[in-house]
Amino acid sequence: MKFYKSVRPAAAAVALIAPGIPKNLDVSSSPSIQSIAKTIAAGAMAYYPGDATHFVDLPDPYYWWETGALFGAMVDYSHYTGDHSYDPTIATAILAQAGPSFDYMLPKHYGDEGNDDQAFWGFAVMAAAESNFPQPNTTMPSWLDMSENIWNSLASRWDMSACNGGMLWQIFASNPNGLTYKNSVSNGGFFQLSARLARATGNSTYADWATKVWDWSKGVGLLDGDYNVYDGTNINDNCTTINHQTFSYSQGIYLYGAAVMANSSRTADDQLSWTKHTEGLLKASGSFFTPYPNATDIMYEHACELGGTCNTDMRSFKGYLSRFMSRSARLVPSIAQDVNTILSMSARGAGFACTGGASGTTCGQKWYMGGFDGTVGLGEEMCALETIHGLLAKDATPPFKGDDIQTIRSFSS
Ligand SMILES: *[C@@H]1O[C@H](CO)[C@@H](O)[C@H](O)[C@H]1NC(C)=O
Ligand SMILES: *[C@@H]1O[C@H](CO)[C@@H](O)[C@H](O)[C@H]1NC(C)=O
Repeated sequence: MKFYKSVRPAAAAVALIAPGIPKNLDVSSSPSIQSIAKTIAAGAMAYYPGDATHFVDLPDPYYWWETGALFGAMVDYSHYTGDHSYDPTIATAILAQAGPSFDYMLPKHYGDEGNDDQAFWGFAVMAAAESNFPQPNTTMPSWLDMSENIWNSLASRWDMSACNGGMLWQIFASNPNGLTYKNSVSNGGFFQLSARLARATGNSTYADWATKVWDWSKGVGLLDGDYNVYDGTNINDNCTTINHQTFSYSQGIYLYGAAVMANSSRTADDQLSWTKHTEGLLKASGSFFTPYPNATDIMYEHACELGGTCNTDMRSFKGYLSRFMSRSARLVPSIAQDVNTILSMSARGAGFACTGGASGTTCGQKWYMGGFDGTVGLGEEMCALETIHGLLAKDATPPFKGDDIQTIRSFSS
């Protein structure tokens, strides 16, 4: 067993920071960002019915995958802000969903678990490994071992029976629609986890797979020449037709995979091309900013937000674009300045949108309105949280790798 190495600067001082008022966000001040993230983290966690000792599924209308997304966001919250007050609840929740094979295949959710859902839990488990998040349960594997289990489970479903490869959206016959559809979230999720495991472990199997999934995604047209990420393609015509819908989170998922590859490339040529891919994916993410006419360069979900048709899932997507943009900036110096500038503007917009409800701090959806738009939910809280606390990523310890990833068994105070 290795010893715990403190990774959070001034954690004790940070814990004393009081919750702040989102509309007062000062994006140039870490204490301001921390205090407002604290308010919004409480807003998000208010939706979660479990606690430090019991896992409880999120109530309807939230699907199981979004619980994984929430705790992925909370692992980052803990790491970026140094506020460890939720750590026991986070660890209990993530460990509770590991399943009998410790790979996040959960019999209870066989009716609704798709490859993308498993990948979203994978993002949370991987983030826990990369930040040496406490893992107090000695009867269970480490975060990194479970990340590798998830990867092996996903890899076993790489499907050569149509489209020369790729992963289907769904796993079980109870979800027949997704059994003919190869989507960017599942394949991008597998790509990103491959890249993160390549960097974390140095095992070249993962880097080879990351390249293979990337090449397949490009070849089939889920990624176009301008680095737009499209939603999916159907095996019924051997993936010759692409569904050209685009969502912010798919863009973010591929972006971070490319950024991790750029940061851990084995050759100078590889580093050059993955950096180019990262910059291209970032540029293409511009389609998720700047709605008219109220604001400029504010993040929005272009497929549904202006028309007010975002479903429950979609209302959380922007958060993952933010999560993966700020993580990418931490690993690829050439995009750091641009990401900080663009996310700062969205964070400010989110702050003005988090002015609803009895508390005056409930988050709305449309950040470009300059105020609260009345649309509330867990997704709205998570999007604001990830965008705001992501501003701290540039000063946080970068994701650990190799021997710096430790088997931590206890909580820090
Ligand atoms: C690399 O990772 C793969 C997939 O998890 C595993 O099968 C293989 O044993 C690993 N290789 C080494 C040298 O650890
Ligand atoms: C990888 O990321 C680290 C942490 O931010 C950074 O110090 C390093 O320069 C990056 N490496 C490359 C090759 O970009």
